[in-house]
Amino acid sequence: MAAPSSSSQSSTATPPTTHTTLAYTRTSEVEDLPHATKKPSAHQEDGRPSQEARDYVRVIPIPPRWPVVDTEDLSRFTITPQRMRMIVEAFKETLELGLSKPKQVVPMIPTYVFGWPSGTERGEYLAVDLGGTNLRVCLVRLTGAGKFEITQSKYRLTEEQKQEDGQKLFDFCGECLKAFTDLSIENGEFKQGEILPLGFTFSYPCSQDKIDHGELIRWTKGFGAPNTEGRDVVEMFRKSLALHNVPAEIVALTCDTTGTLIASHYVNPATKIACIFGTGCNAAYMERVRDIPKIAHLGIDPDAEMAINCEWGAFDSFEHEHLPRTKYDIMIDESSNKPGEQAFEKLISGRYLGEILRLVICQLIDEGTVFLGQNSYKIEIPYSFDTAFLSLMESDPTDELLMIIGIFTHFFALETTLAERQFFRALAKLVGRRAARLSACGIAAIVSKMGYLEEGCSVGADGSLYNKYPGFADRVHEGLQDIFGEKGRNIVTHHAEDGSGIGSAIVAAMTKVRKDAGLYPSL
Ligand code: GLC
Repeated sequence: MAAPSSSSQSSTATPPTTHTTLAYTRTSEVEDLPHATKKPSAHQEDGRPSQEARDYVRVIPIPPRWPVVDTEDLSRFTITPQRMRMIVEAFKETLELGLSKPKQVVPMIPTYVFGWPSGTERGEYLAVDLGGTNLRVCLVRLTGAGKFEITQSKYRLTEEQKQEDGQKLFDFCGECLKAFTDLSIENGEFKQGEILPLGFTFSYPCSQDKIDHGELIRWTKGFGAPNTEGRDVVEMFRKSLALHNVPAEIVALTCDTTGTLIASHYVNPATKIACIFGTGCNAAYMERVRDIPKIAHLGIDPDAEMAINCEWGAFDSFEHEHLPRTKYDIMIDESSNKPGEQAFEKLISGRYLGEILRLVICQLIDEGTVFLGQNSYKIEIPYSFDTAFLSLMESDPTDELLMIIGIFTHFFALETTLAERQFFRALAKLVGRRAARLSACGIAAIVSKMGYLEEGCSVGADGSLYNKYPGFADRVHEGLQDIFGEKGRNIVTHHAEDGSGIGSAIVAAMTKVRKDAGLYPSL
């Protein structure tokens, strides 16, 4: 078994106190692309060089080693405010459709998390988080008044584990949890013989009939474990817990976004929306039951509220009608294990941004524009260009762009010229900015659907892109102002509370309180 990294922390979490938003600035097309030069069509119909091509040769001086690329493709990375507003409209309609009918592309999953936490939730809970990159197991002690303590261990998932039989994957989770609970008992954190309630964060789209049930609709984020899609993952995980004799009882299945929504509201009640911008991307918010027509038959009080896991990464899947895709996006989609699916996510999330940039670079290599005479096999390996490299490239503070030199020499054995490095950095900026601006479109769609613009709202956000990519949050805020004008300033994102640990424990606590009170005990 993989060695866990373990940590323990105690928190008296307080709401965030400062938020910085950028001054409202509009962005211009393909700005900051010093070397992207429009390539004219070189020949006329009769095969002779066109006037345009001749002018181009005459007028634009290009230092010999600068990459000359076709800007038409690169300009598609830039999303104008007008285009953003069109995307928001389509997005809003899609969200409404998902609430009205089952089995829609964006499934708008009712989570059976009824309303907000009171902040007085107490008790000890286990939380297991099967996310995109790691498996995390936690012991959470909720101590009331928005306070908690958490002890956790993390295990890295291998690529093989993501593709092997689903039951084996859950058995691995059970085995890790068993090791963790044994240690917790040894450390006196809870007693031998005690069965702890468990919140299971499973961050993939699952259709739920009740809170402790969820049929996997489809794997996302590159997972492909067979014999899992269409099955109840709670049932599968229960089997694994029994197999390893784990002293835990699953009381709630949640997704990272729902957990983040609840945990963020627990410490900052102004939070109304939660987003994850990590390996995948998604959002959750609190909806009025009367506005979820597809569950009208359950007879829930129409004035009650329920968290909705949007699974918005699926927006524009299959039809590809609304999002401008470059040829690099299409290449990623077509060579993925799920072609056509998660169209929005593939333009935004950390799993894909590095790959997008790598594909642009590979095209330049094919065209003989960069790295002439060098062996480029390393960078030609799919997914070898980590999204973390984009963060580093954008934040390189040196004139010579030494960080970028380091990335290319160390990881890809490639020498770069300063001009190439500046160009690659500009490309990273295009890709990173597009991701943030599209993310703003998703947030804007929820804000506008729920009518939060005037009163404003706080958006709890988490995930590696949000937390580590320089300027990501500022670009989201800038995007919101491009969509809504000055009022866009009313919508502010902030670093969220840990959704899949604390959030999942709070959801488990809320569920126990609800069921003990006899409120919708079968849901
Ligand atoms: C993917 C998953 C979704 C999750 C998101 C962020 O989009 O389908 O459930 O919330 O990634 O982890």
